[in-house]
Amino acid sequence: MKAVDGCSIDIESGTVVGLIGPNGAGKTTMFNLISGFERGSGEIMFKGNRTDNLPPFKIARCGMVRTFQIPRALTKMSVLENLMLAPTMQRGERIWNVCLRRKKVLEQEQAIKEKSMGILEFFEIDNLKDEYAGALSGGQKKLLEMARAIAIDPSMMLLDEPFAGVNPTLSRKISGHIDELRESGMTFLIIEHDIPAVTKISDWIVVMNEGRVMAEGEPEEIKRRKDVLDVYLGGEG
Ligand SMILES: Nc1ncnc2c1ncn2[C@@H]1O[C@H](COP(=O)(O)OP(=O)(O)OP(=O)(O)O)[C@@H](O)[C@H]1O
Ligand SMILES: [Mg+2]
Repeated sequence: MKAVDGCSIDIESGTVVGLIGPNGAGKTTMFNLISGFERGSGEIMFKGNRTDNLPPFKIARCGMVRTFQIPRALTKMSVLENLMLAPTMQRGERIWNVCLRRKKVLEQEQAIKEKSMGILEFFEIDNLKDEYAGALSGGQKKLLEMARAIAIDPSMMLLDEPFAGVNPTLSRKISGHIDELRESGMTFLIIEHDIPAVTKISDWIVVMNEGRVMAEGEPEEIKRRKDVLDVYLGGEG
């Protein structure tokens, strides 16, 4: 079985693209390929450069980050610590810096702390900063994942089901944040089964089925396509 086969998509920068399709269509596998967690035989270009031969951390350094369908926060650390670990190349990580440039390291740590608190406030989970990440609810973990992703200042975010298991109030909050971030120039590729939610925030929708792109277009057009409805609802939808 080929989870993704002959699948080609273009994502214009500064847009929100929704990736939909039935369970097992290959959406998460597509994310794994794009973000470097799995290897395929195709080509992946990001900002004009090939990234299909790079490991995930290097792809993240190029400005592309992803969240996971099942959140992967570091559960034995606090919410704030989770966020403070996200920025790459921290001075304090280099052992000789800790000894020789203690003042600079502390200054930088303070700056990262302030930035992290700002992000937690943006996602309205700053009141949970001292909780263990493992103690958060499903929806709060999703918010923390997005916060961690944003902490590395990405230009593109891949979100795997950001609304799944999230209550309507939190979902609206996440949508609002996505809108705001898009306004500031960020690009999104979002996997989502909540069709009303994803069509509302997306500029373009790509539909996958059995490892291939079966349709793509503007949200209103996709919502009316009979073949797409059939795939989702099973047979004569
Ligand atoms: N590690 C794996 N080993 C074997 N098969 C896998 C693996 N990961 C995924 N698959 C298979 O690949 C296909 C695509 O899976 P994928 O997780 O990409 O689907 P999806 O579109 O994200 O589905 P969902 O909407 O349920 O999350 C499925 O048939 C799945 O069983
Ligand atoms: Mg999936």
